[in-house]
Amino acid sequence: MIAKPLEGLLSEANFRWVESAVPPLAEGQFLVRNRWLSVDPTQALQLRGPEVPIGESPWSLAVSEVVESRHADFSPGDLVHGQMAWEDYTVTEGTGFNPTFRVPEGVPLNWAAGVLGLTGLVAYFGLHAVARLQPGETIVLSGAAGGVGSIASQLAKIHGLRVIGLAGSPAKCAWLLGEAGIDAAINYRQEDVGQRLTELAPEGIDIFFDTVGGASLETALERLRPGGRVVLCGITSQYLAKTPASGPSNLAQLIMVNGRMEGFLGREFFPRRNEAFDALLPLLRAGRLKSQEDVVVGLREAPNGLARLLAGKNVGKQLLKMDEPPGI
Ligand SMILES: NC(=O)c1ccc[n+]([C@@H]2O[C@H](COP(=O)([O-])OP(=O)(O)OC[C@H]3O[C@@H](n4cnc5c(N)ncnc54)[C@H](OP(=O)(O)O)[C@@H]3O)[C@@H](O)[C@H]2O)c1
Repeated sequence: MIAKPLEGLLSEANFRWVESAVPPLAEGQFLVRNRWLSVDPTQALQLRGPEVPIGESPWSLAVSEVVESRHADFSPGDLVHGQMAWEDYTVTEGTGFNPTFRVPEGVPLNWAAGVLGLTGLVAYFGLHAVARLQPGETIVLSGAAGGVGSIASQLAKIHGLRVIGLAGSPAKCAWLLGEAGIDAAINYRQEDVGQRLTELAPEGIDIFFDTVGGASLETALERLRPGGRVVLCGITSQYLAKTPASGPSNLAQLIMVNGRMEGFLGREFFPRRNEAFDALLPLLRAGRLKSQEDVVVGLREAPNGLARLLAGKNVGKQLLKMDEPPGI
């Protein structure tokens, strides 16, 4: 559970390890054993409070196995994707901000928690429903080697776009150019992003897919072509900022190019999730789409998983694989 609100760097001191008995089930509830947790930058917001108060556990989207059920829709043995606390076992009604749904049969659980969970859904619908990407266009992605970014970069390439990724280390850029096979990668910590974008895309860019927020948004807006789109997916660089960042100074560019900037929440697309599964699963099975994962093992490693993410150490999707829990 959270012991101390997050200010500055995340450490073990922000958490307290607590053991308690699993409560009995009420009608409409079911008990799951959590198997894989998705670690997400927004957990920094839970730790900053007041979303999750001191003394309660942070939550993740998780892939879990139903152990007992007094719920009409879920039975023991079902594998589900839902919002679960950082604990071995969770009692839930399956409702809330991220409602629980059954994982499609035969899907590896790490994929269900990552590329076929909210992460892949956001990449897929961010490109198709929000950016409405077209082959031949030029797309730039921030956080391109992160969870959402690594999937979105590859999908845009598969769809026939010219893809330029921004990432924070040589290893991330090497992964983007090698495994992910995109056209160009810019290490924004070492290179001048504006200058590199001018060299790589002298005629401008059609889509900017932003998972980071901050300076790169303004740089990309400046280069937006007629009919260009900016997809606001996340603002990782701002989650721990002490004061809100000032907005881009060049929003007028959207007017000049008849452009569009649109934010979206992946959960709004849960009812259409089969569309994404049907598109992504064959690509994954054929090896055309790689699920790059950064995995920590064991619930006690959850703080470390989040710290890795917030320090930019993860390449691909940050996941936590639960180890064998105590019996109940
Ligand atoms: N709209 C939605 O429904 C939805 C759903 C899921 C996720 N998201 C959002 O999408 C974004 C990406 O999520 P993800 O799970 O794929 O995470 P992620 O991108 O794998 O992890 C965070 C990465 O952000 C980069 N970063 C840039 N500036 C940073 C800073 N100041 N502090 C820390 N990291 C920084 C780091 O990569 P570099 O080293 O390359 O900078 C880091 O590895 C997040 O903002 C998340 O909240 C939105």
